[in-house]
Parts: sequence; structure tokens; C-alpha cells
Amino acid sequence: MPETFSVGLLGHGTVGSAFAQMVAERADAIVPVTGMRPEITGILTRSQGSFEEILAGSDLIVELMGGIEPAREYVLAAMRAGRHVVSANKQLLSQYGEELWACARENGVQLRFEGAVAGVVPVIRVLQESLAASRVERIHGIVNGTTNYILTEMERSGLSYADALEQAQALGYAEADPTDDVTGRDAAAKMAILARLAFSTPVHLDQVVYEGIEHLTGEDIEYAKDLGLGLKLIGTAERVDDGISVRVHPAFLYAGHPLASVHGPFNAVTVESEAITEVTLSGPGAGGPQTATAVLGDLVSAMIPPASTPETTESLAVVNDVESAFYLHMEVADRPGVLAQVAELLGMQGASIRSVVQKGLGENARLVLILHPLLESRFYAAVRLIGQLDFIRSAPRAIRVIDEEFT
Ligand SMILES: NC(=O)c1ccc[n+]([C@@H]2O[C@H](COP(=O)([O-])OP(=O)(O)OC[C@H]3O[C@@H](n4cnc5c(N)ncnc54)[C@H](OP(=O)(O)O)[C@@H]3O)[C@@H](O)[C@H]2O)c1
Repeated sequence: MPETFSVGLLGHGTVGSAFAQMVAERADAIVPVTGMRPEITGILTRSQGSFEEILAGSDLIVELMGGIEPAREYVLAAMRAGRHVVSANKQLLSQYGEELWACARENGVQLRFEGAVAGVVPVIRVLQESLAASRVERIHGIVNGTTNYILTEMERSGLSYADALEQAQALGYAEADPTDDVTGRDAAAKMAILARLAFSTPVHLDQVVYEGIEHLTGEDIEYAKDLGLGLKLIGTAERVDDGISVRVHPAFLYAGHPLASVHGPFNAVTVESEAITEVTLSGPGAGGPQTATAVLGDLVSAMIPPASTPETTESLAVVNDVESAFYLHMEVADRPGVLAQVAELLGMQGASIRSVVQKGLGENARLVLILHPLLESRFYAAVRLIGQLDFIRSAPRAIRVIDEEFT
């Protein structure tokens, strides 16, 4: 009989219950890989179990409770007691990662967290192991399935934001309270974790600038289609000058970008470095069985040899004013000289125009420009002045464009 490897499970909700079922179903298949048979020996919820008893009877702790406390306290206590920990808690790792990794190092235990970013897509492993020796230049990610589903439906079916959100909730792709998803905060937490691993420098959720999708209109999506662009909520982590920029915002992509074809509730991450050009990983980004699969993978890895915890080897500044290409949508009076005045104000800030679409609306016209990349501060300085021109009929709307294509 193989030796039993005892797993204490904190949390038995969507992911926890799928994980418990998967351990029972897959335990025999894990024996030849690890030489041991995993078994859930204790479960903690709000109404059952005692953390101290579960810890005492476990070789490893799986934390699937979510939130900061008491998850943080339990994870620290487990590692101090010499237990490896597996967690899928992005909020905890993006805010207390440094404390937790230091604790793992001090106690010689593993803290694994593949399920915390992009569900079953193995991006953590790729950054920590496969690309560990590469100098990563940039990561782009669609790391929130809820918003990607909403934007896909707005684009495909012409639904309004509110109708697409309602549909996402009816199908279980969005929670009853979707705030963290639609404001970009959930994606920001995941990008903080990816940036931390890619650049070996501490990154806290508070340092990630994020913008959500609530203000987007079907009209922007329609105009952009004419220009060959698709709209996504994109997380970016990249090297800029001597620092890094980590941000989440809606962005238009040209069809040649690997993330342009990622639709519905799927997640995908591209990692760019000079030697590899780019690698794209994609797959289901959330859901009980999907996330539980990533957690089970971490359990199996923790049962074999030790994995490293992320070292801090750099101290990079997090920079917020970066270069972006932009889509700019304006309603203007339809009269001569309008485009020239807009172009002049943009030109004064160093912006140059890549493409223009103009459509008449009786006395007014819609003017949509795509601009080549420029510093965001300079772009918004020009937009403020454009907004004051007498022929502007409503506030100009701006959305970033990611103008890379890999073909
Ligand atoms: N759901 C997904 O698709 C997904 C995807 C990726 C990552 N994650 C992450 O996985 C983790 C779990 O998510 P989930 O969707 O499974 O959450 P969930 O369905 O809300 O389940 C949470 C579980 O933790 C228990 N719990 C919460 N607070 C507790 C406390 N103070 N003491 C004891 N037990 C407590 C709950 O107990 P009760 O049953 O008594 O309420 C419940 O069993 C989160 O960190 C989440 O961010 C989830």
C-alpha cells in the first residue's frame, strides 16, 4: 500500500468542492507519479472543522477560502509549521505576496499558486520555470473571463454593456456582484502577480493602474470594426526605461495580435522576450473544475521535489506615464477645417494620425482617429484642448490601441 499524503483543505465552495472530488477521483493516478496517495484529511468551512486540528493532521494545506483574513493568518501559520501550501487566492498574493514568499523561504516550504492567475492556463509555471532565465520584456493578458465574455457579446451580438452583463450573470460567467471583474480590479491583482514573477521585483496591487469596461459603448465597437480592430480588457506588464509599467484597461487590438482571437470566457497570456519573440498560452480562465485542475497540478508538484519561491533580485520603479496608441472618438459640427484643427492640437503634442473615419450625421459628424503611440500625458493634454473647441458636440472618448501584430 502506498503511503498516504494528507491534505488539509481550507474552503469547500466552487473550487474547493471540485478539488476535493478530483483528489478522490485521481488519487490512484497520482501514486505512480509521486509514490504517495493524496487524501483530504480535513475540511474547513465557516460551519465545520478546526484549523488547528486540520493543520496538525496534514502534510500540506490547500487554501481555497478567498479573501485576506483569515486566509493570510492560516497560510502563514501552515508554513511556519513546516507545511507546503497551495492557494488560488489572487487578492492575498497580490497584496501580501512578499510577506508570504519570505515566510516560505524562511521555513523551507513551497507556496504554489497556479490557480490564482488565468485558471488552468499554466502561466505561473511557465514564468517560474520554462522562462526563468529569459529576460521578459512584456506580458499582455486577457486574465478576466467575465469581461472578455461581455465584450465578445457586445461585439458579436451588438448587445449593450448592461444586457451583456445580465447575460453573463444568467450563464454563471459573472457573479451577482461583478464589481471586481468589471472595474478591472480582479485583472489588476493577477497582473501584479505576473509582473512580480516576470521582473523579479515586488509589485503590489495598489501600484497597478486599472480601468474597467463599464463606460464602453457598442458604438465604439462598431466604429473600431470598420478599422479592423477588436476590443478587449487587456492587462499589461512591461519594462519601460529603468522601471516597469503594470496596468489594466480596455484596448483595441488589430487582428494579427494573438489575443485578438480570444473570445468568450477564455483567458490568454502572451509573454514577449527578445529570444522567443512571443509565447501565447490560452484556455479556460475560471470555473470550479478548471481551477481545481490547476490546484491539483500544484499539489502533485509539491509532493515531488522542491520549487523555488520568487526571489527579489531587482528594485524597479513602477512607472505610470507610458506610450500608447489611441482610438479617439469625437462628435463634431460638420464644417470645413475641423479635422485640421484637431490634427494641429494633436500635432503640438507630438501625436501623428494613423487612420481616420468620418461619418455624417446631418449637421454633425462623427470623427474617429487612430493615433500612433505617444506618451499618455501628452495625448490627454491634447484631448483636454480638443474638448474645448467650439465645434465639439460631446466629450471626446479615448480608448488605447495595442498596435503590435505578430504575423
Ligand atoms: N471560482 C472560480 O472560478 C475561481 C477561479 C480562480 C481562482 N479562484 C479563487 O479560489 C478561491 C475560492 O474561490 P471560490 O469561488 O471557490 O469561493 P467560494 O465558492 O465562495 O467558497 C469559499 C469557501 O471558503 C469558505 N470560507 C470563506 N471564509 C471562511 C472563513 N472565514 N472560515 C472558514 N471558511 C471560510 C466558505 O465556507 P462556507 O461554505 O461555510 O461559506 C466556502 O466553503 C478564491 O481565492 C478565488 O479567488 C476562484
